[in-house]
Amino acid sequence: MEGLTRIASLSSLLFSVLFICDAVDKITVNTPLTDGNYVVSSGGTFELGFFSPENSINRFLGIWYKQISVRTIVWVANRETPFNDTSGALKLTENGNLVLVNSTNGVVLWSSNSTSVSMSLVAQLLDSGNLVIRGSSDGNYTWQSFDHPTDTALPGMKMGKNFVTGVDRILCSWKTKNDPSRGDFTYLMDTHGYPQHMMMSGSSVRFRSGPWNGLSFSGSPGLKKNPIYTFQFVFNQQEVYYSFDLINPYIYSRLVLDPDGVLRRFSWNNRTQVWTNLVNAPADNCALYGQCHGYGSCDTNNSPICSCMDKFKPKDPKDWLSADWSNGCVRKTPLNCKSDGFIKYSGIKLPDTRNSWYNLSMSLEKCREICMTNCSCMAYSNIDIRGKGNGCFLWFDDLMDIRYYGGNDGQDIYIRMASSELGSSGLKKKILRVCLASLGAVLILFLILISFTWKKKKDREKRQKVQQQQQLTREGSLGSSSRQFYTVENDNPDIDLPLFDVTTILKATNYFSPSNKIGEGGFGPVYKGVLKEGKEIAVKRLSKYSTQGNDEFKNEVILIAKLQHRNLVNLIGCCIHEEEKMLIYEFMPNNSLDTYIFDKDQGRLLDWQKRFRIINGIARGLLYLHQDSRLRIIHRDLKAGNILLDVDMNPKISDFGMARSFVGNETEANTRRVVGT
Ligand SMILES: *[C@@H]1O[C@H](CO)[C@@H](O)[C@H](O)[C@H]1NC(C)=O
Ligand SMILES: *[C@@H]1O[C@H](CO)[C@@H](O)[C@H](O)[C@H]1NC(C)=O
Ligand SMILES: *[C@@H]1O[C@H](CO)[C@@H](O)[C@H](O)[C@H]1NC(C)=O
Ligand SMILES: *[C@@H]1O[C@H](CO)[C@@H](O)[C@H](O)[C@H]1NC(C)=O
Ligand SMILES: *[C@@H]1O[C@H](CO)[C@@H](O)[C@H](O)[C@H]1NC(C)=O
Ligand SMILES: *[C@@H]1O[C@H](CO)[C@@H](O)[C@H](O)[C@H]1NC(C)=O
Ligand SMILES: *[C@@H]1O[C@H](CO)[C@@H](O)[C@H](O)[C@H]1NC(C)=O
Repeated sequence: MEGLTRIASLSSLLFSVLFICDAVDKITVNTPLTDGNYVVSSGGTFELGFFSPENSINRFLGIWYKQISVRTIVWVANRETPFNDTSGALKLTENGNLVLVNSTNGVVLWSSNSTSVSMSLVAQLLDSGNLVIRGSSDGNYTWQSFDHPTDTALPGMKMGKNFVTGVDRILCSWKTKNDPSRGDFTYLMDTHGYPQHMMMSGSSVRFRSGPWNGLSFSGSPGLKKNPIYTFQFVFNQQEVYYSFDLINPYIYSRLVLDPDGVLRRFSWNNRTQVWTNLVNAPADNCALYGQCHGYGSCDTNNSPICSCMDKFKPKDPKDWLSADWSNGCVRKTPLNCKSDGFIKYSGIKLPDTRNSWYNLSMSLEKCREICMTNCSCMAYSNIDIRGKGNGCFLWFDDLMDIRYYGGNDGQDIYIRMASSELGSSGLKKKILRVCLASLGAVLILFLILISFTWKKKKDREKRQKVQQQQQLTREGSLGSSSRQFYTVENDNPDIDLPLFDVTTILKATNYFSPSNKIGEGGFGPVYKGVLKEGKEIAVKRLSKYSTQGNDEFKNEVILIAKLQHRNLVNLIGCCIHEEEKMLIYEFMPNNSLDTYIFDKDQGRLLDWQKRFRIINGIARGLLYLHQDSRLRIIHRDLKAGNILLDVDMNPKISDFGMARSFVGNETEANTRRVVGT
């Protein structure tokens, strides 16, 4: 009898040992997990157990990648209640609660707070890194760690909210690199208004993803189709979330909210055995929330980065000039409600949607109608930009957190504007202005013709060379380091530089429509235009602040126009109209070099041979400017953004003459600018 019991207990022991070996990815009511033991997911990807961070004796229950050499914790259970010894044990209770207890005295330090009515419960570590509680025959989870993330989002995890169950998955950073307790930063799905991801620093917004536009988040144009992961955004009555999945399950990728307040995407490089940082949010200064405040637009290519949107002006110009943008911008012309219209702005990160109104199925026309009829509606736009566009956003407050991307990134938004600001909408005042302008232009042309012939004659008589040494100081406040020296050889200015008439330019650029704006240089905005003959041009509208006289300006332009080299952008004319001076350049269809070399996808288009050709071309252009040209010019701002590319990807240096043309004549704002590259 006694022998039988012994055999029975022995076999049950044997059985339980076998059971443990067989079921290493599970914890059952009878088999708790004690400190020093581990649970490994069935595919061997993740491991669950107790760990201590570097330089710490505290013991936490966590999940990490099993296969890789760098210990990477993706989830922590008791982040606020660590053990200070190895007495911890993870237990599954009969009623489906997962608890961390002191195995010596039974005190509970952490609990999943879950209950279940299922029979024969198990807690299982899935190969996705998800720790779930379920009945052994039931596919439904009564609790899962993916619903209670720490600081890491793994493939398959939903980042967002379930409106039915109330589950809200919020990432919260570790306090420091070696302390898993709650840090200052959280990353969550905000559902006031249309959903958008928000990174909070305490209770203030640090970064905003912008609303989903069907392809990606409005504020993350870098989120594109890629070989590592796919992604989706789901928004319906039940839930709203963003999630991603691996294309190749062996290339790990994760999103982690680091203690410094940056959400980083990493992917594991098996060859070098390090995590490669793919993208960050916030990625730059313009990604920080509300940098330029109401109606200010942030553009990292500008310095300073904030400017008022077109047709807006700083609310407090003095503060604005000293780079204090906290008062934002206001319309130059106040609204008048009934007769207002809308102006389209392109290449924009849509403003904060927290207080916006939306309708997912409304057309843009209907959207405009509704916005038009409500005087407090400030702007409208599509929600989904795929195809012809769909859905309707309406904004009723000042537009916050706008940035300008330009190019193909960013979206269109239509902002309410007083009728007198509506460019081409055919108001009498506008027509009168254009008429006067063309009259002025004809007059100027006439005067120039006369002065030209007179000057030519005089020059021929004199036939002597004038050498002028000009030492021009541009940035008084920056001291001698930014002084600029030129040798100007002023010989026969016999060159026919077309003077364009202002109506031609207005027509070509569609009255300087914001959608034609292709950039903003230090000296003013640049617009794309098409002349009647179909020739494409780029019009640089020099800031009106320049106090240079028209004659001086003309002379300068003629000098610059003489600089002809295949690696310099060709100036084809200018236009003078009252205070306004414009330069007309040939249009470069392939944009500037920075759009290639700083972009992963575009960068692939430039193979080594092309790159070498571009480098060579830039060097030739520079050599010409420095040594071979009539004017000796030091560019001072040579950067990828100033290298334009023609149809055949030949490099052309731009902006080379303007520094010289405007020395000493800049506004205070421009002179404070840090110069040069
Ligand atoms: C666990 O219980 C033992 C015995 O009461 C105690 O000495 C120890 O400090 C406890 N550990 C923790 C982390 O509470
Ligand atoms: C560990 O924690 C327990 C409970 O908080 C405490 O009573 C004990 O003194 C601690 N032990 C050490 C070595 O700090
Ligand atoms: C479980 O409930 C307790 C008490 O309400 C709470 O302090 C704790 O944070 C909860 N645990 C989890 C994992 O939500
Ligand atoms: C999972 O839950 C749903 C609804 O709660 C239920 O209809 C379904 O039968 C459950 N699945 C299993 C395998 O029990
Ligand atoms: C990583 O590389 C090693 C050796 O090169 C290989 O054995 C292993 O399968 C690779 N792991 C993954 C996840 O690709
Ligand atoms: C959204 O717009 C569509 C089409 O105009 C309309 O039928 C629908 O009722 C609107 N939904 C809401 C909630 O306003
Ligand atoms: C305009 O829209 C606001 C915000 O939705 C609303 O409170 C107000 O009643 C509307 N006014 C009119 C005249 O419809």
